[in-house]
Amino acid sequence: MKKLNIGLYGYGVVGQGLYTVLQKSKTVDAKVSAICVKHDKKRDVDENLITKDRSLILNNDDINVVVELIDDAGEAYQIVKEALLKGKSVVSGNKAMLAEHLEELIKIQEETGSSLLYDASSCGSIPVIRNLEEYYDNDLLVSLTGILNGSSNYILTQIFRDGKDYETALKEAQELGFAESDPSFDVSGKDSLFKLVILTLHAFGILVHTNKVFRFGIENLNDFDVKYTKEKGFNLKLVAKVVKVGDNKIAMYVMPTMLTRDKYIYGVEDEYNGVVIKGQFYDKQFMFGKGAGAYPTGSAVLSDITALAHNYKYEYKKRKFFKSNEFTGDYSLKIYLRFDNKKDSDLFEFEEIYEQYSGKGTNYVIGKISLKNLLKINDKIEKLPVFVSVIP
Ligand code: HSE
Repeated sequence: MKKLNIGLYGYGVVGQGLYTVLQKSKTVDAKVSAICVKHDKKRDVDENLITKDRSLILNNDDINVVVELIDDAGEAYQIVKEALLKGKSVVSGNKAMLAEHLEELIKIQEETGSSLLYDASSCGSIPVIRNLEEYYDNDLLVSLTGILNGSSNYILTQIFRDGKDYETALKEAQELGFAESDPSFDVSGKDSLFKLVILTLHAFGILVHTNKVFRFGIENLNDFDVKYTKEKGFNLKLVAKVVKVGDNKIAMYVMPTMLTRDKYIYGVEDEYNGVVIKGQFYDKQFMFGKGAGAYPTGSAVLSDITALAHNYKYEYKKRKFFKSNEFTGDYSLKIYLRFDNKKDSDLFEFEEIYEQYSGKGTNYVIGKISLKNLLKINDKIEKLPVFVSVIP
């Protein structure tokens, strides 16, 4: 097993979680020898480890592993790229950066032989990526459906289970250290989308740009939507999905989804994440675990570090060896659209309408619409008083 000398970037929620978890783990011969931070403040760690000079870790030849746990995606990219080019192994938790730059970072790994691991970036403590790489290394996978963001799930749980209001629940998610420093990433579905892009690469071998995928979050949820969902006996979750449609085509989306009780993710509550993997012959399998927070995510980073000690690398098997999949927006869904103004609902090009309701100031339509047509109006509808959800 390789001896690891770690340079850590970032000492926020996850950085501190990792530091604690690492002290408790005896399985890996690893020590943190420098921690690069942005701001001066009192920290419960040996002051001699702290530096504000980014290049110190990168230029230290004794450091063979860089662990990048910072917020800023642009800076994370620079650090990860430079570390890989210098032949260091890297662990990153920055899903926004990975979703944007994986194409190039895969190439650098191939050229340098360095390894970049990022299981911690998607679904916190649940080992989804490595399972997709190693166990589901065949072409039988049909779909991956999941709750990939802990904060929005925490908020929805507080609203639906405990009757709290949105603002209080969001504040709690921030205080508990689940939320991004800009929580709009959590509630808008962007964070889920970054993770979906990463998981799709390992599930289906294709790297899809985020701007091709329809995404709608939970920010516009109102009391009417909550009441409607409850009256129907559904639970509402922010769901990310990638599904194979026909031969070698995949469709993807991130959307609130009303779920019936028989769905595995119906009962995934608080900051937990849940992922259902469906295959042609084995049908459904379900993975469940904490998706956010210092120790669950710190444990996932530790697992990536341990894997490096055993010289593990992602092989990107499906991307390399399988017939390539294509992205498609030609996939239709049954949705619930709640709106105030008819002109807003007119933006939606429904293929079929199943139900319509007009009440005092609130209206809804239930109908079938394609992801392609939803994507066309994605930017517009986020700012309008409408709420969109997949409905059974
Ligand atoms: N803000 C993220 C979440 C953190 O709530 O899931 C873990 O990626």
